[in-house]
Amino acid sequence: MSILITGGAGYIGSHTCVELLDAGYEITVLDNYCNSCPEALERVKKITGKDFKYYECDIRDAEGLDKIFKENNIEAVIHFAGLKAVGESCQKPLEYYANNIGGTLTMLEVMRSNNCKKIVFSSSATVYGAENPVPFVETMKTGTTTNPYGTTKLYIETILQDISKADDQWSVVLLRYFNPVGAHESGLIGEAPSFPNNLMPYISQVAVGKRECLSVYGDCYDTPDGTGVRDYIHVVDLAKGHVKAIEYVMPRTGVEIFNLGTGNGVSVLELVKAFEDANNIKIPYKIVEPRAGDIAYCYSNPEKAYKVLGWKAEKSVKEMCEDTWRWQKNNPDGYN
Ligand code: NAD
Ligand code: UFG
Repeated sequence: MSILITGGAGYIGSHTCVELLDAGYEITVLDNYCNSCPEALERVKKITGKDFKYYECDIRDAEGLDKIFKENNIEAVIHFAGLKAVGESCQKPLEYYANNIGGTLTMLEVMRSNNCKKIVFSSSATVYGAENPVPFVETMKTGTTTNPYGTTKLYIETILQDISKADDQWSVVLLRYFNPVGAHESGLIGEAPSFPNNLMPYISQVAVGKRECLSVYGDCYDTPDGTGVRDYIHVVDLAKGHVKAIEYVMPRTGVEIFNLGTGNGVSVLELVKAFEDANNIKIPYKIVEPRAGDIAYCYSNPEKAYKVLGWKAEKSVKEMCEDTWRWQKNNPDGYN
């Protein structure tokens, strides 16, 4: 019996592979490497000292998926595979809908035909939209998404809820991530974007000298220092949340939603300062116009995950900054 990890070579997937292997699970990984490379999986083997099979496969390839299910006796899926760049999704909505939603539909059909009906899905805090007050709680009505990427998350959540309503054998956990940052403390795996769209990767690329200066998107929000406030969560804590989610999904049926966040809001300037202090590096920045679609505040109420899963985030902002920097300085060009 094995857990299938789709998109397992990616940033969150690779860290989750480490935690699952450390917890004693057997895993099988698939990825089409459109935003990752197999080297990340080799490093997962190095960190854990454990072996597992991985396949180059696209979630839109039903035949390829079916072969993986048949060869590996898959009992549950953790579904990370998807495109995730908010800006790009506005330019290429069709690609995002086809890949994220089309791919998920194909995979769900293959799961069903192999009688595997347990899934943990990577959703996002973006589904709370701009209308809900912080902290976001799972019982809130989902909001209006502002980009096709966010809409794919909302639709996939709805699809999983619908199939579960129609067939009570499905067991679904929807994990709404807040802002994952940091890297494994070994410095062997981490986030390696070719262009950094998110704040922490941008800061670390400025630190390593690949970018000159951070642009802070607006200082006129209604927040203590005027910059956007987010709930940064260490990727290793997030990965451990998936081990708890798998334990939860296995013996049950039905749908459950969990926020994976710390519950603490940190502003852009606070994160810059934390990175500077933790690593003794100056990060030059300039204030520029706000980025379209951004909201002032986004942070979680993480109580449900603690009460029901027994999970809470443990790593500090300082550790997030130190671990990001260790990964970045040891791997200035990512896995290349
Ligand atoms: P990532 O890009 O590093 O990982 C996604 C992986 O999926 C990549 O390895 C990519 O090659 C693979 N992939 C994409 N399309 C595929 C396809 N059609 N077939 C097979 N593999 C495919 O991103 P990540 O940060 O690790 O995110 C993982 C998941 O978590 C994504 O679904 C993302 O939307 C979600 N998420 C991420 C964040 C974040 O800030 N990183 C926040 C909320 C939700
Ligand atoms: N920011 C900057 N400069 C940058 C990048 C970001 O000032 O170069 C600011 C943003 O304006 C925002 C904060 O830093 O205030 C965080 O921005 P990120 O791009 O790092 O993260 P977001 O909160 O915008 O988005 C993330 C994920 C999305 C997910 C969303 C909600 O990237 O996938 O959280 O969970 F949908």
